[in-house]
Amino acid sequence: MNKDIPIDLVPAGSAAAPRDALSRPLRDLRISVIDRCNFRCPYCMPEDQYAQDYEFLSKEARLRFEEIERLARAFVRLGVRKLRLTGGEPLLRRDLPRLVEQLARIPGIEDIAMTTNGVLLPKFAKELRDAGLHRLTVSLDTLDAETFRTLSGGRGEVADVLAGIAAAERAGFAKIKLNCVVMRGVNDAQVLDLIEHFRGSGHIVRFIEYMDVGTVNQWRGDMVVPSAELIARIGARWPLESLQPNYRGEVAERYRLKDGGGEIGFISSVSQPFCGDCSRARLSADGKLYTCLFARLGYDLREPLRAGAGDEELAVLIARRWAQRTDRYSEQRAELRARGEQKHVEMFAVGG
Ligand code: GTP
Ligand code: 5AD
Ligand code: SF4
Ligand code: SF4
Repeated sequence: MNKDIPIDLVPAGSAAAPRDALSRPLRDLRISVIDRCNFRCPYCMPEDQYAQDYEFLSKEARLRFEEIERLARAFVRLGVRKLRLTGGEPLLRRDLPRLVEQLARIPGIEDIAMTTNGVLLPKFAKELRDAGLHRLTVSLDTLDAETFRTLSGGRGEVADVLAGIAAAERAGFAKIKLNCVVMRGVNDAQVLDLIEHFRGSGHIVRFIEYMDVGTVNQWRGDMVVPSAELIARIGARWPLESLQPNYRGEVAERYRLKDGGGEIGFISSVSQPFCGDCSRARLSADGKLYTCLFARLGYDLREPLRAGAGDEELAVLIARRWAQRTDRYSEQRAELRARGEQKHVEMFAVGG
């Protein structure tokens, strides 16, 4: 139940095109389909930190595909045009291509993407493409086999991810985004190798500043490598030119290698927060709406959904919650951390 968020205090208004309290529209919905993962990346779900008795969601607790589709339709009425499927690892959810097919059919959806760790792509890439998935993002923090083992918590092999990317290419996915979380002293010496490997492929390597998501990753500010430092380091090897954003509020700053080797990107939510244009909502696998990656609480949509709420009613609930939204954690990070406010939802429960 939603005891902590007094929705009734908010005046009911039109459900159409809500703006949040900072005037930001709702455009982008990230749907986590499962909270489980076959990796244990230390920056997300470290094996020794997250409680051994952590209870993953039961099948009953998770939204069924039909429920996800109904909520997605409600979000589309409110202005959402982009969907991204995440996890945990989304491909652990049985029959995922069927969900993609259902979502891709919704009128108004212009873009549907997925973030995956890639190891199950040899099995699913073709089906996902046939189901209507437009774009893929694969997490890949290093090409070094040993560092990769460390960064997947001893559960993954880099060769399997590369095989997954190759399968995705064969299935017709182009311009795949490769997300690399950079941690000082762990994989920051290997960023040039990633660019060297993918230059000329048409894929886009993006370097992400390590964030203090969740509660378990023991984040320290000195482990963040600011993008400006990386840009200088990469630029010394391959001169770079900055590119215009593809759309307003794009998370990554884009650059091209001047020699024609392709595009790379930087996601700098620690050194240059981008909350001002944040139009992203997140839906957890158990149907909670999170209005920020760093939110403490989610707003339960499963309960009204299962109690029989109609489409209009669901849209109004979401719109009213959105209208209350004041989140801008990355801009307030220093202040909130100093106050000891470090309780956030876990990254594997809301996806990236
Ligand atoms: P497109 O531009 O649609 O391709 O996607 P994207 O770059 O928004 O998507 P992706 O999920 O690949 O984002 C990459 C990473 O950026 C995520 O894994 C997060 O680490 C980070 N990120 C994405 N959205 C947010 C956000 O709203 N806030 C913060 N702080 N970080 C975000
Ligand atoms: N900091 C930055 N990005 C993170 N991700 C997960 N945890 C973190 C973190 N602590 C991102 C990774 C992964 C996606 C699912 O979430 O890029 O690709
Ligand atoms: Fe799994 Fe992705 Fe989290 Fe790694 S970052 S543990 S692959 S959900
Ligand atoms: Fe959006 Fe929250 Fe990320 Fe800021 S910290 S960009 S408000 S998700």
